[in-house]
Amino acid sequence: MGAEHKYDTKIVSYFCEENLTEMFAEAARLLNNGELVAFPTETVYGLGANAYDADACAKIYQAKGRPSDNPLIVHIADEAQADELAEVSDLARRLMAEFWPGPLTLVLPAKPVLPSVATGGLNTVGLRMPAHPAALDLLRAAKVPVAAPSANLSGRPSPTAAYHVYEDMQGKIPLIIDGGEAAAGLESTVLDLASPVPAILRPGVITSADLAEFIPGLAEETRLPEGGIARAPGMKYRHYAPKAKVILCPPAAIYDTYVAAWQRFVDEGNLQPKIAVLASMQGMRGLAQAEHCFLLGDDLEQVAQNLFAALRWTDEINADLVLAEVFPEHGLGLAVMNRLKKAAGAANDKL
Ligand code: TXA
Ligand code: MG
Repeated sequence: MGAEHKYDTKIVSYFCEENLTEMFAEAARLLNNGELVAFPTETVYGLGANAYDADACAKIYQAKGRPSDNPLIVHIADEAQADELAEVSDLARRLMAEFWPGPLTLVLPAKPVLPSVATGGLNTVGLRMPAHPAALDLLRAAKVPVAAPSANLSGRPSPTAAYHVYEDMQGKIPLIIDGGEAAAGLESTVLDLASPVPAILRPGVITSADLAEFIPGLAEETRLPEGGIARAPGMKYRHYAPKAKVILCPPAAIYDTYVAAWQRFVDEGNLQPKIAVLASMQGMRGLAQAEHCFLLGDDLEQVAQNLFAALRWTDEINADLVLAEVFPEHGLGLAVMNRLKKAAGAANDKL
């Protein structure tokens, strides 16, 4: 039995467990003993370790199969912890007051208290106070900041439900806290406040328009210059990719693309191709006959919430091809397209 299958992974439910105090006490004991605990947040599920414990943080990379130069977001339950870990500017404090707890990660100059395995060796740290009550209860019980990337295997879509975590982490970690479906469905907005010009390194549910009152003129997203150094190292890795090839289609072109792709498969001898369509109501028009459709929803909030589950579903059904709808690239649509382009491999070609 390899190191990967060391644990009899237990799932406990935030909604059903009778003694929540004892449940969080057990989770806190595990974290303080250097073990990993997966927990729900309002964005996606996190794979948590005590951020002060270098060996525990190293286990995260091992469990995910992720390169260790990628810094981890550090989750905290109160602002006093932010002052322990980073230099907090007035702007950062105002943003915390407005958006925390919530899906905004602030990259700040780090105080030299965290092991380099947590910060990816950078002199900055990404801090976030998650809004899910189970995440906050866990952080309060643990009494330490918790470093946590999304709880998926590297390269797989981020988990938005406890069973997604189980699929990827079974046998590798002792405990998963089930807190239901993630409300936002996309990872937090990462805002760099450690550089002279604030920049959104990863678009999310909190948009540049939401931040404009605090940071006038903030660009919607920071695109990396050709050959430039990644300001968010995570941006350079391929993410969210399902096994099948993903083609992005404007809604009006999905039907024709579907028919053409079907014909191509048939010509090549695959008479029953599984072409998965991921689209909104609008994009599904004309596809009543198509067998493998995943309705992402009526509006962008629903699309964001369902996107990662839809990408995982394409793996489950062993899709031969995925056609995904293109959404307008601003506001929440920008965050959705950022993930979809990564799934399609398109954004990575540029990075
Ligand atoms: O919503 C989220 O943020 C989820 C949940 C679990 O909280 N966490 C998450 O973590 O998405 P992760 O590790 O999958 O993504 C971390 C992202 C990466 O793109 C990383 O490069 C960037 O944040 N990041 C973290 N610390 C940074 C730093 N000091 N400087 C620049 N980028 C940083
Ligand atoms: Mg991730």
